[in-house]
Amino acid sequence: MRTQYCGELRGDHVGQTVTLFGWVDRRRDHGGVIFLDLRDRSGTVQIVSDPVRTPGTYAKADSLRNEYVVKIQGRVTQRPEESLNTKIGTGEIEIYAEDIEVLNAVRQQLPFQVSSADAESVREDLRLKYRYLDLRRERMRNNLLLRHEVIKSVRRYLEDTQGFIEVETPILTRSTPEGARDYLVPSRVNPGEWFALPQSPQLFKQLLMVSGFDRYYQVARCFRDEDLRADRQPEFTQLDMEMSFMSQDEIIQLNEGLIRHVFKTVKHLDLPETFPRITYAEAMDRYGTDRPDARFGLELVNVSALFGKSGFKVFSGAIAQGGAVKVLPIPGGNDFISNVRIKPGGDLFKVACEGGAKGLAYIRVREGGEIDTIGAIKDNLSPEQLATLMEQTQAKPGHLLLFGAGPTDIVNASLSRVRLTVGEELKLIDPDEVNLLWVVDFPMFEWNADEKRLEALHHPFTAPKPEDRHDLKTARAQAYDLVYNGLELGGGSLRIYEPELQQQVFEAIGLSEAEAQNKFGFLMEAFNYGTPPHGGIAFGLDRFVMLLAGEDSIRDTIAFPKTQQARCLLTQAPSDVSAQQLKELHIRSTYTQDSKTI
Ligand code: AMO
Repeated sequence: MRTQYCGELRGDHVGQTVTLFGWVDRRRDHGGVIFLDLRDRSGTVQIVSDPVRTPGTYAKADSLRNEYVVKIQGRVTQRPEESLNTKIGTGEIEIYAEDIEVLNAVRQQLPFQVSSADAESVREDLRLKYRYLDLRRERMRNNLLLRHEVIKSVRRYLEDTQGFIEVETPILTRSTPEGARDYLVPSRVNPGEWFALPQSPQLFKQLLMVSGFDRYYQVARCFRDEDLRADRQPEFTQLDMEMSFMSQDEIIQLNEGLIRHVFKTVKHLDLPETFPRITYAEAMDRYGTDRPDARFGLELVNVSALFGKSGFKVFSGAIAQGGAVKVLPIPGGNDFISNVRIKPGGDLFKVACEGGAKGLAYIRVREGGEIDTIGAIKDNLSPEQLATLMEQTQAKPGHLLLFGAGPTDIVNASLSRVRLTVGEELKLIDPDEVNLLWVVDFPMFEWNADEKRLEALHHPFTAPKPEDRHDLKTARAQAYDLVYNGLELGGGSLRIYEPELQQQVFEAIGLSEAEAQNKFGFLMEAFNYGTPPHGGIAFGLDRFVMLLAGEDSIRDTIAFPKTQQARCLLTQAPSDVSAQQLKELHIRSTYTQDSKTI
């Protein structure tokens, strides 16, 4: 039997005989003395064997190779002063091996070194193909352990202090696409019909409120067939919650308590009692995004009023068409941002274009206060207007003012990207700061220009603010997102619980009564049988762990993630299936090799 995990051993254990199981992290031969780092999920400990003190194990210790699986028995000994290692928890002691049993050897060359002592950087595709080896490495092991600690801490808080109960909701469910595409599963016993994997447990958790479960939560797997990025996976985990009889304020407060508890238990950090709240309108105005990174300033300034009547057609035209002119004032930017970077082909130009802009106009305030520009802006402003511009943007000598003009969403998308790029370049972002804020008062809908219809900004079950109910199309929602250092950590809302209002919202997004009935009839029917007022929220658990671990990708917080191409390199999924399987499922593929190039 194991007596301890390797990483648990300390000075207190000196003199004890211990039995350990693990992997040989590294073997070193120091002039006839063999040192082994033995590793298990808790860390490593140093094992020693030499012909004088442990003659019975020396030959075996010498024969071990990296990643052999061994059982080692030995006596815990204080390390001599000169070989203490303060970098690891077990660095005060070492173990003289009295018995070594090889449980399994390594039969092939390892695709990469596992030991963190080797610290080689390994290509991600190789890491994903041999994920079981990658997970042995310290960094990944720590990430998975952190994930476990976060979930444990969430469960303790929600169950033990807030009375939440966990209920599992189905994975095989009905297709109700809204937002991302569904993953579909054919039904063998119901030919021609399909299940969908849930994009979230949204409808079931609402139905659980109708059932009276009141405070529900679930560590819920969700599936979305969407374009992947570093913070998106096709299969991801939500910490999903729903509550009855609570106001938006009460839900927000409860969740602040939850987030504070997680930070306290896993990071030993005290967060403030409440997190700042900013309205969607203000976030868009000041930062150009609904998930602002407020760790640094560099706020946008809306100068539309000033340019509405200017003779500079690019600006006044944008405003005349309902758009905006906004400025990103950059202190010191005159110095470190050259024209080459702002003009076509330049890096900042490209960043702006990613947001949809066609270019970046600018004004430089030279060190002596002289104003320099590409001409057209300055020439078309009166001295008074120029003075107002300087005042509104608080421009001082050395400032660079970057302008965005056009449809408001494009101006915001472009300047918010440029803001982040410049903030990073100026090192204005403290990577250790934890900046959490709520964005509230989202609009109910946004315009989908491709489909020429309104679309629910969160989802169509979100309730409008009572004072805005008279005009749903322009109404604000009782919705809230939690933003962590510029990333959307979670989002939720109070829900609609009256069938009439639900029907009106479906109509607003262009869903006819028949379509709504077909897709969501079961929900609307449930609303007729005594539905409590309710609301909820879901956090992206993978993202939360990513931020807590200081990683850049959620792939590093998921045991077996998919690639950006939504593939599992370890199991080679997705894969072909046999003709027989397809036949049983009543499916014929239209795919041909040529389809790939279409
Ligand atoms: P939403 O769609 O905003 O809300 O999702 C909630 C949170 O889940 C995370 N998330 C993702 N994480 C990884 N990969 C993805 N593809 C992905 N998509 C979303 C984000 C996001 O904030 N049912 C509602 C919640 C509610 O109203 O209660 C919902 O799913 O961190």
